[in-house]
Amino acid sequence: MTDNRDFGAPASDRRVDQLFDGIGRRFEYLRLSLTDVCNFRCTYCLPDGYKKPCSRPTELSADEVRRVVTAFARLGLWKVRLTGGEPTLRRDFDEIARTVANVPGIRRVAMTTNGYRLAEKAAAWRAAGISAINVSVDSLDPARFAEITGHDRLRQVLAGIDAAQAAGFDSIKLNAVLMRGINDRELEAMVDFVSSRDLSLRFIEVMRTNDNAEFFAERHVTGQSVIDRLQALGWSRLPRQAGAGPAVEFGHEHAKGRIGIIAPYSKDFCSSCNRLRVSSLGKLHLCLFGDAGINLRPLLQNDGAGDELIERIRKLTATKAPAHRLHQGNSGATPHLASIGG
Ligand code: 5AD
Ligand code: SF4
Repeated sequence: MTDNRDFGAPASDRRVDQLFDGIGRRFEYLRLSLTDVCNFRCTYCLPDGYKKPCSRPTELSADEVRRVVTAFARLGLWKVRLTGGEPTLRRDFDEIARTVANVPGIRRVAMTTNGYRLAEKAAAWRAAGISAINVSVDSLDPARFAEITGHDRLRQVLAGIDAAQAAGFDSIKLNAVLMRGINDRELEAMVDFVSSRDLSLRFIEVMRTNDNAEFFAERHVTGQSVIDRLQALGWSRLPRQAGAGPAVEFGHEHAKGRIGIIAPYSKDFCSSCNRLRVSSLGKLHLCLFGDAGINLRPLLQNDGAGDELIERIRKLTATKAPAHRLHQGNSGATPHLASIGG
């Protein structure tokens, strides 16, 4: 497919190619973390809250973000998700969103947020060019929500979801991590919530990271058990769409919303991987559960390094491992997902 919006673009912005790895997976989607700071304390991610290290290098600037996104866009990636940590803690979040949305070749800018400012900011973020939003909602019970996240803000987050619907986002997804003995009994209530609304719900299997091994052992609920419960409620698997990522989608004839399952421990999860990650410090992560990341930042310092940056990304991507090694108990170098973009 050619993107004819390249026509007339300056040489430095022109599309050069598509990006593949060594086993033929094509990459179309970049997840860009803007910060690893978060103001929530989700039990599976940052149970003790974000700990500020003594010296923290500065996050990528709007210009550095523009350069890295331009390079990926020239390699055929057309979707960017702004993530974190909590990306909206950045004071220049709106400017960065606008910058990314204006990169030639980028057709979709999405964001992931814990929703704490969504009610007041939804319209501004939509106006900045963001068209898809994922909001974490691990419980619809205010007390349980507070226990899981450390913040009694369910009402605020739900008001944010209403504001996002009013602001006209093309896609609004609720992310829920089901945890045994904590919120797994809420599956039916969550399914009801999206049945009557034009929203999608994503059940995400708790992933083991370096920091949460014990929590994982105690709380992990398998994706298959979630699928069994959905099928018992009359939901059925939808055909896979071309270019879709690793989520498996379900629909119900009487429901307005859709449900997706993200089950990284399931067979073949990695075969449909279509994404790469860049951390808030400019490191390329080929896999969520991979190595410590490869620093691209030296090549983000001026507009002239574009071609070298593209070559670097292309070479590194060719080395992406075919699959994670979670089943061997290896969750890579990731301490928690706030550090690399959940
Ligand atoms: N396992 C599963 N999902 C996680 N997230 C963060 N940490 C984990 C983990 N260990 C996801 C949550 C949240 C998003 C920002 O990142 O779904 O909604
Ligand atoms: Fe923050 Fe998201 Fe981690 Fe929760 S899951 S602590 S909202 S980064």
